[in-house]
Amino acid sequence: AENGHTDSDQDGKDNKEEVALDNAVVIEDDKSQDENVSKDKEIKIEVKNESEENKKEKKKEKEVKNKKPLLSHPTVHVEVKRDPKVQVARLKLPILGEEQRIMELINENEFLIVAGETGSGKTTQVPQFLYEAGYAQSKMIAVTEPRRVATVAMAARVGHELGLTSKEVSYLMRFEGNVSKETKIKFMTDGVLLKEIQTDFLLSKYSIIIIDEAHERSVYTDILLGLLSRIVPLRRKRGSPLRLIIMSATLRVEDFTENTRLFKEPPPVIQIDSRQFPVTVHFNKHTYSDYLKEAFKKTVKIHTRLPEGGILIFVTGQQEVNYLVRKLRASFPYRRDVDYTKLITKKNATDVDAALDSEPDDIESDDDEVEREMKRARKARRKAKQKSKTLPKINLDDYDMPEDDGQADLVGNDDDSEGHLSDSDAEEDTLAPEIKSCRQPLWVLPLYSMLGSAKQARVFDPPPPGARLCIVSTDVAETSLTIPAIKYVVDTGKKKMRVYDHITGASAWRVVWTSQASAGQRAGRAGRVGAGHAYRLYSSAVFQHDCPPHHPPDLCRRPVDDLVLMMKCMAIDKVVNFPFPTAPDRMQLRLAEKRLEILGMLEKHEPKNAYAKKIDEEVLKVTPLGKAVSAFPLLPRYGKMLALSHQQNLLPYTIALVAALTVPEVMSGKADCWPATGHTLLLGDPGVLLRAVGAAEFAHLKGEENLFCAKYGLREKAIKEIRKIRKQLTSEINLSIAGVQAKIDPEMKPPDDNQARLLRQLVLSGLGDQVGKKIGMDEVKEGEDKRKYKYAYHCGELEEPVHLHSASILRKVIPEWVVFQQMYETGAEERRKMVMSNVTAIEPEWLPIYVPQMCNLGDPLTDPEPRFDEKSGRVKCHFKGTFGKAGWELPLVEID
Ligand code: CDP
Ligand code: MG
Repeated sequence: AENGHTDSDQDGKDNKEEVALDNAVVIEDDKSQDENVSKDKEIKIEVKNESEENKKEKKKEKEVKNKKPLLSHPTVHVEVKRDPKVQVARLKLPILGEEQRIMELINENEFLIVAGETGSGKTTQVPQFLYEAGYAQSKMIAVTEPRRVATVAMAARVGHELGLTSKEVSYLMRFEGNVSKETKIKFMTDGVLLKEIQTDFLLSKYSIIIIDEAHERSVYTDILLGLLSRIVPLRRKRGSPLRLIIMSATLRVEDFTENTRLFKEPPPVIQIDSRQFPVTVHFNKHTYSDYLKEAFKKTVKIHTRLPEGGILIFVTGQQEVNYLVRKLRASFPYRRDVDYTKLITKKNATDVDAALDSEPDDIESDDDEVEREMKRARKARRKAKQKSKTLPKINLDDYDMPEDDGQADLVGNDDDSEGHLSDSDAEEDTLAPEIKSCRQPLWVLPLYSMLGSAKQARVFDPPPPGARLCIVSTDVAETSLTIPAIKYVVDTGKKKMRVYDHITGASAWRVVWTSQASAGQRAGRAGRVGAGHAYRLYSSAVFQHDCPPHHPPDLCRRPVDDLVLMMKCMAIDKVVNFPFPTAPDRMQLRLAEKRLEILGMLEKHEPKNAYAKKIDEEVLKVTPLGKAVSAFPLLPRYGKMLALSHQQNLLPYTIALVAALTVPEVMSGKADCWPATGHTLLLGDPGVLLRAVGAAEFAHLKGEENLFCAKYGLREKAIKEIRKIRKQLTSEINLSIAGVQAKIDPEMKPPDDNQARLLRQLVLSGLGDQVGKKIGMDEVKEGEDKRKYKYAYHCGELEEPVHLHSASILRKVIPEWVVFQQMYETGAEERRKMVMSNVTAIEPEWLPIYVPQMCNLGDPLTDPEPRFDEKSGRVKCHFKGTFGKAGWELPLVEID
């Protein structure tokens, strides 16, 4: 920390200033949109002339400037004619009582935090308050949502409540929207607003930005908050203030208020106290792995034994939602031709019975499949009746259940003894009579992110008379959408979370325990209309030991290479100084920058002013290659392989290769059963993988995949996973890159010799920062392993020698130069050594072309051949390519 511009926190303030200045320069590009162009120039000059001596003075001046009450606010009230019904419903919302306080605070402040329980009316009401106060008169009100479902649903709702059309209260998300010239309030996904910042840094179309659901801490929301904390002061300087309202459930608000990097002074917080009725939480005594079965059983019991009130079931994903919806509808079908209201009086119930036994005209269903399902259930029912006392049995095996099936059925599923729903029945069969004798239908509706907007909207409507509402939802219903009239919550305690592998960058959706905070939120959904009950289908021990208090924000869980490239593409150049609400590890950010620079996706730019020069600050900006690479949902190094392969018809191979490289432990056996020669042999382990995948695909087509995998030591699950990734990447590429039509060739032939050579170059282009050079024979002592390589991290420290993995096909060759995917430690104590896996042989001449930053320019006389430079860990050679600059457009260079 010598010069005060290192990592220490002490200079946090300066860093903050720098970010703001950084942004000020970005604005130059779009002065056209603002009236105050001259002011902009002033700012710019200030930035340029900044030197350390007058910086302090400037700062003082600025402070004085900032203290001026520049903040103007609209004064013309907008008349709104609301439907009287809407008005009655609104008045019940707790947030209505806070309207005046909210408006006073937002008129006087640029930042405001509104925290309140889900359902208190934040999303639907705050935009209306602002609209009425005139904030949408000359510029728009923006509301961002992290979820697509909420974006559509909330725009529709607010439009309806204000009596405005979808042209005026609109939504915009990727691939879909209804924004028009007349739009006053614009709901959008957070990703969309980020995109807009890239073309209009000052967000000049908006008077106010509402970041909704901030507690979800989506990556985009977090970056937006960081950016907005800087954009808002800039807008004030221009005399056209922009306001920011952060809305969140009552979760970890201190992440925003106590973060001095984000806000110099903590913004005012309005806490909405909502009427929440008591919710009794019931834990299961045991935790069963088949949580869907448990959810089904619990719902049956609630429906058949407990008083009226809607049921909300939380599961993890769309498939599970559909599965449960089908199953519940089949068990308690709803028929339009039956008047269920008669059920209420016992006397008429027999009429209902009679009606139910007749052939139905119409059954509420979503698709044919459900229809069939219901028919099957009805048939079973009738059969059971005829056979008298034979009970209909719903066969769980008919459904695609999760793979791990516990012995749930063998043990009793006892609820806590205090629970008002005793739960001693062990077998599902014992529920069958209850299902059978229950005449009341369940009105079962699905809810998940990708559900069409019309179907989504149905969850807000009351169920048909006589039927009980039951919603099966993913965590969407946790805080984003509030469903009215829920009394019972059935919580599986699970959610899907994206889990990243930091080495391969592969991400997969894993089912994990929810956080304790989420469990609380879920339970809370039961207490909105009256006292409620939440049934957790797991034990309190699980809650205490397996559920973390909170899950860390997405941004801190994803690999940083990815994140850094994404931010650079948004012109956020000083990633390390960025005011993240929760910052990822600084060291990791710096290393990622370095890696991206070596791989040609970032490049150095000269310090842009005297001050920056003085502190020797250089900025790494994204290159055209980096931009191209960021389009792929992969770690940048694999994205680079894909980006370069699109001109040589190698794409199908590269897709398969990248897919195989991102799945761990594909092969358990030796590489010997995949013989190779020539360039295919030199392509090394990735080549073996490629051939294995091709062959496994062939076997799959013949229906012999499992036999094949067993015979050749391939992990079947890995092969399936690779297939999935190949499909996903292929469609993603076809979607996002114009003019490219990648096809999956299921019977992928092994690459020919020339293709294999090009593939070696591609692998090098992505792994080129991980180069190993064989240790010369004269340096290896007698009796020692000859398959040793020198390798240095790009930060320059020379490491101990690394060895070829024992399963590497390249042990047959022991090439002079290699690149590798992974390096790790194996063996215990004395036999401990560093090993590299997934190794490819390279020609050192390719390095200056594909990874020029990995090379230091040498003298042709002293370095006629590329040479490993132990000091820098780089390669000395006498020519340097220009690859990084030409980027995407550069066809693969063929070297013979
Ligand atoms: O944002 P917050 O969670 O604070 O509440 P909200 O989403 O604004 O919801 C306020 C109320 O409006 C809830 O009781 C919802 O059930 C209700 N609502 C509705 O009835 N129909 C909609 N389409 C949207 C919300
Ligand atoms: Mg909301």
